[in-house]
Amino acid sequence: MNRKMRMPVIAGNWKMNNGPAAAEKLVGEIKPFAETTGCEVVLCVPYVSLQAALAAAAGTGIKIGAQNCHWAPSGAFTGEVSAEMLKELGVPYVIVGHSERRQYFGETDGTVHDRTRAALDAGLKVILCVGELKAQRLSGITAEVVRLQTKLALEGVSAEEVEQRVVIAYEPVWAIGTGLTATPEQANEVNALIRALIAELYSAQTAERTVIQYGGSMNDANAGELLAQPDIDGGLIGGASLSAEKFAAIIKAASA
Ligand code: PGA
Repeated sequence: MNRKMRMPVIAGNWKMNNGPAAAEKLVGEIKPFAETTGCEVVLCVPYVSLQAALAAAAGTGIKIGAQNCHWAPSGAFTGEVSAEMLKELGVPYVIVGHSERRQYFGETDGTVHDRTRAALDAGLKVILCVGELKAQRLSGITAEVVRLQTKLALEGVSAEEVEQRVVIAYEPVWAIGTGLTATPEQANEVNALIRALIAELYSAQTAERTVIQYGGSMNDANAGELLAQPDIDGGLIGGASLSAEKFAAIIKAASA
C-alpha cells in the first residue's frame, strides 16, 4: 500500500452466498469493524441481497456492490440487471469481469469493456478483474495477458474515471478459491506492471492514483504481507469474506 497516494479498498466478494436474511446478519457482524478511516470497505453481494445489505449498512462506512451488470440500460435481456437499475437502488459499486464469469458465463474482453463503460456511464464505481490462467503463467505470458485484458477493458475510459471510479483487481485465476496465494512478490510484480500500463495509457499521476487490489485466497493470515507490498492497494476477498472474524482481520491489516 502507498497510503499517501491511494486509499486502500478491501472488498468482499460473496459470490453466490448469503440470501437477504444471511446478508443482513453478516453486514451487522462486520459493521463494528468497518468503522475505520484506514481503508474503504465494500461488500459485493448477490442481486437479491442488495436491498437487505444496503439497509443493514445504512449509516456506516460500508459500501455495497453488485457482482455484475449488463451493458445495456434496459431491453430484451432475460435474467440480466443493468447498471442503471443498480444505480436506482443506491448501489455504489459493481464487480466486472470476474474470472468465474469469464470461465462459466461466456464473459469476454469485449463484454468486460462494455459492462465497464455502462457501469461508469451509470455513475457506479467498478472493480475490474483481470488475471492469468495457470497455463498462461506457466507459458510465461502473464504480463501480456494482464496488459491485454486491462487495456481492452479501459478503452474509452478517461483518466479521471480511472483515478476516481475504477479499482483494478489483479486476480490470478489459479489462486482463486484454491488456497494457493500468489507470493507477495509475485502479486506485487503484476500489480506494478498494471500500474506501469496505466502510466503508459494515461500518465504517471493517474497511475499513482489508481487503486490496484490483489485477489486470490487472500485471508486473515496472509493479508498483512500482501498489503505491505507497495503496489497492492487492498484486496478482493472471496472465501474469507464470508466470515466476519476473518474479514475484520483483513480490514485491520489494511488499516494499520
Ligand atoms: P477467494 O476468491 O478469496 O475465495 O480466492 C477471490 C475472488 O474470487 O474474488
